[in-house]
Amino acid sequence: LCIGDVVGKPGRRLLADHLPTVIKEQSVDFVIANIENIADGSGVTPTLFDKVLKYGVDVATTGDHVYKRISIAETLESSSQIVRPANLSPEAAGRDFTVIQMRSCPPIGVFQLRGQLYMPPANCPFHKADEILNDLPEDVKIIVVDMHAEATGEKVAMGWHLDGRVSLVFGTHTHVPTADARILPGGAAYITDVGMTGPYDSVLGRRKDRVLHHLLTKMPTPFRVAKDDTRLCGVVCDVDSETGKALNIERFEVHGLRSNGDGEGEIGEEASSS
Ligand SMILES: [Fe+2]
Ligand SMILES: [Fe+2]
Repeated sequence: LCIGDVVGKPGRRLLADHLPTVIKEQSVDFVIANIENIADGSGVTPTLFDKVLKYGVDVATTGDHVYKRISIAETLESSSQIVRPANLSPEAAGRDFTVIQMRSCPPIGVFQLRGQLYMPPANCPFHKADEILNDLPEDVKIIVVDMHAEATGEKVAMGWHLDGRVSLVFGTHTHVPTADARILPGGAAYITDVGMTGPYDSVLGRRKDRVLHHLLTKMPTPFRVAKDDTRLCGVVCDVDSETGKALNIERFEVHGLRSNGDGEGEIGEEASSS
């Protein structure tokens, strides 16, 4: 099960309220969630990372916001359950990939790549992916890649580049679910964006009045995390554990109900910047 960008408190509440049920109902063996927006819409803190593991996530991926809360740097070094984009500076805190063996699952390799188009500079994600696939131990058959990029074309191209060599390439960062989940001819499941887990009465999770004010006036405007029409979005992918090839991929969406019982407090919060 792969879940798209979890945004702020509304996203955390969706995980707390619905993830255990989804895991049970869909007989999920392994959960990956992109949490780059979990702290007030931008970045990750060690406390929130721990919380996400308690909700049932096995591996967290991040993205361009990975270092917005620098307190996560130590966790990125010490925990095998969180990765940053692999194609950053070799000196950047965090690991290029992780291999996790949990419960009855075979070992699962997970890594994340960041796109180069319309994003801050990063090394070539295509060559970096090749390098990681060379470095992964031979017995790791199931490999999942979070392609964190702005441009759909770059994500689609990565799907083709990795087809036949990985189990699943799921897109994140753009926060809008796409209708192109499919299995490529070489056996890799692919989707351009699984969609964010957060408030959809918004612009990509942020309050629409704030975003429109900024776009119309071009004045600096703090973007607050929105709160309504919350949805948990992701894909469930069946993988043949012998071959590592995908058998099925399905996108799903769970609509959230407002609740006050999980200790998350009030929803709606301030983003760090526009
Ligand atoms: Fe992002
Ligand atoms: Fe994001």
